[in-house]
Amino acid sequence: MTSAPEDCLFLRACRGEATPRPPMWMMRQAGRYLPEYREIRQRVSFLELCKNPALAAEVTLQPIRRFGFDAAIMFSDLLVPLEAMGLAVEFTEQGPRLPAPVRTPDDLARVHEFDPTRETSFVLETIRLARDKLGETPLIGFAGAPFTVATYAIEGKTAKAFTETKKLFYRHPQAARELLARLSRATLRYLKAQIEAGAAAVQVFDSWLGVISVDDWNELVFEPTRALIAGLRATGVPVIYFGNGATTILDRISTLGANVYGIDWRLPIDEARARLASTSAMPFAVQGNLDPAVLLGPASEVERRTADVVARGGHRGHVFNLGHGITPETPIENVEVMVKTVRESTA
Ligand code: CP3
Repeated sequence: MTSAPEDCLFLRACRGEATPRPPMWMMRQAGRYLPEYREIRQRVSFLELCKNPALAAEVTLQPIRRFGFDAAIMFSDLLVPLEAMGLAVEFTEQGPRLPAPVRTPDDLARVHEFDPTRETSFVLETIRLARDKLGETPLIGFAGAPFTVATYAIEGKTAKAFTETKKLFYRHPQAARELLARLSRATLRYLKAQIEAGAAAVQVFDSWLGVISVDDWNELVFEPTRALIAGLRATGVPVIYFGNGATTILDRISTLGANVYGIDWRLPIDEARARLASTSAMPFAVQGNLDPAVLLGPASEVERRTADVVARGGHRGHVFNLGHGITPETPIENVEVMVKTVRESTA
């Protein structure tokens, strides 16, 4: 089995080193904007795809074959571990649904930690199969951060106002704390198993971070997130923390101790890096931050704004990426323009 060399662009940038150009990949790079993905999805449902290692590994490789990205991300979903923890998950036309969400302290009895090698063996098998086919391209494993996964457990869907989450936080803070602690421990075990199966780095998605107040973050969310990242750091592989909507708490985010911070599209990446640096006790790298909506615009804008993100990344400790997931309606040609612009951006 070949694996990613330590001196590949992606791992060098994750370590904060200078690179002739930034390595690149895209959040949600394996997905519906690709005709070859849609072709497979005509034959199987989304959850069947997640649970079929041969197909999931194939989908993981699709964007690598087409664009030659510098890293692959395993194909799975953020909600897969929730099912392993005892909460049924369905995917509908309107998005994910959990028929029996966690709304009261009693509901916690239905949420348990799990053995990743038993309950999510298909994820680990996807990683092993993809790893075998990827050669020297590094594979990123992932999971949701405790808070973001908790919002799905509590709301039962992608929320708009997050009222149920906040109700549980305010009415039953002890239950909320216990749910987040369980998620933190289960996710640590899950991601460690992904690393053992061959992930060269892991990304923790905190997609809904932007909906809580600084006080709630300090009181409830910080500790389980910090503990997860600290446990992962002990493995030695780079830990990428993506806090979507983190603009208001960037100076606190840096205390989470990740190797790489994913930056959304709200703030220029050099400014975000400076704000993280003002409070970070450790060296770190940044990842991001082209607004995915730019890829819906004319090619000239894609080129100009991609070049701007690359320049602001400074060719050091920067993994080029979007500021959030690519949208299904994105034209392939615009991704090609972005890729070409990054590839030709030698310092
Ligand atoms: O990045 C990749 O290419 C790897 C695969 C991946 C998927 N989901 C596949 C997927 C990853 C990393 C995720 C993470 C994920 N899943 C997040 C966090 C990332 C983020 O965007 O902030 C969240 C919040 C989820 C939960 C989820 N999964 C939702 C809300 C939805 C429905 C909305 C949508 O985009 O359809 C999904 C479905 C999903 N996950 C799809 C894919 C390719 C589309 C399903 C389909 O094929 O119909």
